[in-house]
Amino acid sequence: MAGTFITFEGIDGSGKSTQLRLLANFLKSIGCDVLETREPGGTPVGNRLRAALLDAQEEVDPLTELLVFAADRAQHVRRVLRPALEAGQIVFSDRYADATSAYQGAGRGFSPELIAEIIELATEGLKPDLTLLFDLPVTESNERTQRRANSKQKGDRLDGETAEFHARVRDAYLRLARTEPERVKVVETNQPIEVTHQRVKQIVVPFLQSRGHVCVDEFDLA
Ligand code: TYD
Repeated sequence: MAGTFITFEGIDGSGKSTQLRLLANFLKSIGCDVLETREPGGTPVGNRLRAALLDAQEEVDPLTELLVFAADRAQHVRRVLRPALEAGQIVFSDRYADATSAYQGAGRGFSPELIAEIIELATEGLKPDLTLLFDLPVTESNERTQRRANSKQKGDRLDGETAEFHARVRDAYLRLARTEPERVKVVETNQPIEVTHQRVKQIVVPFLQSRGHVCVDEFDLA
């Protein structure tokens, strides 16, 4: 059986990574074969590209940024995502191509045509089966990323962008959800973590059941 590819997207500080971990842990606990991965940095070479991309000290030209995210993705698709999906795994990626549309397209201002072409080149048409878009107002995400920057986890180069930049990114993600409502599901994250987790389960478990993953066969959400 072919696997299922689910991506987790949202502006910085949207809580997507926490929700990815919770859902992966839950699915593993009931016997599902889940692979957790991320972009940038889902491969060894990708990890090195990630460090260069997110270094807050370095000025990275927008075109370089676009191409390096694409290079990271090409490696990820060929070496990790396709093999895992061919092996029938449930694959969770913390960000994927939609992040390039939102950040480099709407955020940096590259044309939709160029963005589409570069995404096609890097992914060879591999699309997520389902995308969860974690959404919250930019003012709240700012507070979260500020807290993160002030604590042990250092903020990255893109966290430091202006509120207008993050607002463009958020609007682009929400537009995407309106354009592709079947694939992209919006999850509001202004609730406690556990409440959001239940909401995520209500979306993902029936989806996996519909795709024939036997590990969720017996699971009743009620
Ligand atoms: P991520 O590790 O998800 O950071 P966070 O946990 O802070 O959300 O992503 C790192 C940054 O990379 C994030 O600011 C978004 C950015 N990014 C792009 O600009 N384009 C892309 O194609 C991807 C995958 C990420």
